[in-house]
Amino acid sequence: MKYDIKDIGLANEGKLRIEWAGKQMHVTQLIHDRFQKDKPLKGVRISACLHVTSETANLMIALKAGGADCVLVASNPLSTQDDVASSLVKHHKIPVFAIRGENHKTYYRHIGAALDHEPHVTMDDGADLVSEIHSKRPHLAEQIKGSTEETTTGVIRLRSLEAKGLLLFPVVAVNDAQTKHFFDNRYGTGQSTIDGVLRATNVLMSGLIFVVCGYGWCGRGLANKARGMGARVIVTETDALKALEAAMDGFEVMPLAQAARLGDVFVTVTGNIHVVRREHFQNMKNGAIVANSGHFNVELDIPALKKLSKQVRAARTHVTEYTLKDGRKINLVADGRLVNLSAAEGHPAAVMDMSFANQALSAEFIVQSGHQLERRVYAVPKAIDENIAVLKLHSKGIRIDRLTKEQSHYLASWEMGT
Ligand code: ADE
Repeated sequence: MKYDIKDIGLANEGKLRIEWAGKQMHVTQLIHDRFQKDKPLKGVRISACLHVTSETANLMIALKAGGADCVLVASNPLSTQDDVASSLVKHHKIPVFAIRGENHKTYYRHIGAALDHEPHVTMDDGADLVSEIHSKRPHLAEQIKGSTEETTTGVIRLRSLEAKGLLLFPVVAVNDAQTKHFFDNRYGTGQSTIDGVLRATNVLMSGLIFVVCGYGWCGRGLANKARGMGARVIVTETDALKALEAAMDGFEVMPLAQAARLGDVFVTVTGNIHVVRREHFQNMKNGAIVANSGHFNVELDIPALKKLSKQVRAARTHVTEYTLKDGRKINLVADGRLVNLSAAEGHPAAVMDMSFANQALSAEFIVQSGHQLERRVYAVPKAIDENIAVLKLHSKGIRIDRLTKEQSHYLASWEMGT
């Protein structure tokens, strides 16, 4: 078996970590047990490009239990948990190509290894496998039954391929499932982003001015968690509806040019490029902390920050201090890469449980659908989404009411008026 990881000697630590996460992934575990019995993925080659974490490991183990022949590579050079990668190789015989801190060349060599596997199904977090297939190895598309996509950013890239008529195979937008983005993007990103900022900087949240750039699901979650920890939260937006929602949720809303002068901590969660730019860095307070929790490391214009600086040094693990020409210092966390996965451990397992249940069931859906699917971006089937919510509630011991017959009838009728 070929693989490329940091150190196979880390496997035992990784095993414990995978087991710990698994204990909070009840829905994924149920799927694992059914997969093990029914083998719905027998003989299916799956190439996954996901963050190599203990939660992802539980997904890969479930896919393998279902009969899939899996390969895992990293979807970000800084997010790999090397001990987890090692345990997947040693204890679960799943090939992994991922090393925390790998450079650009190695990252793409690993993506290449995932494609050498000649997958029937690809699983992406950011659409790197799909975009590599489309740009460099289109012949692989012939045998690909479909792909799944984990993130908002990836789905945007895929919809753009679809709109241009270039999409070579069907894709399921896992991100858009309600049991994914309502929870993972909101509560997962909310908590893990703050976790990353705090592990990196150890600042006191109470009373500091926390600027959240972007009020999508991730921004909503982050702004709420920051407020919950006592920060004064400012939201910046370009979308009028989202800005209005942020204002009515009780946050201060203003242009970033204005917030730049006020903030102590800035976090981007927009999915866009160069959100925090030269003119913003120039006006920040001495000691400002800047981080990104969007998928790609392009939300902060780091080259502009470098140009403005006369000195750059490591201030502590995961923090680079840029000294501007007038002596003010700006602290960049995790080189502008996903702060929650670079400086912390990503979203907690309990929320990844639902995201990865969607991944596993979407892979099964692709395989079961055979050739019926077209070259389109599909939603996760509603029945899957609802079932995951039911199972998650059940695993938490939460029971809910049922509609009475009268209520069902009422909802289905139009005759009853004032
Ligand atoms: N994305 C965000 N958090 C994650 C985690 N813990 N594992 C895999 N992907 C993630």
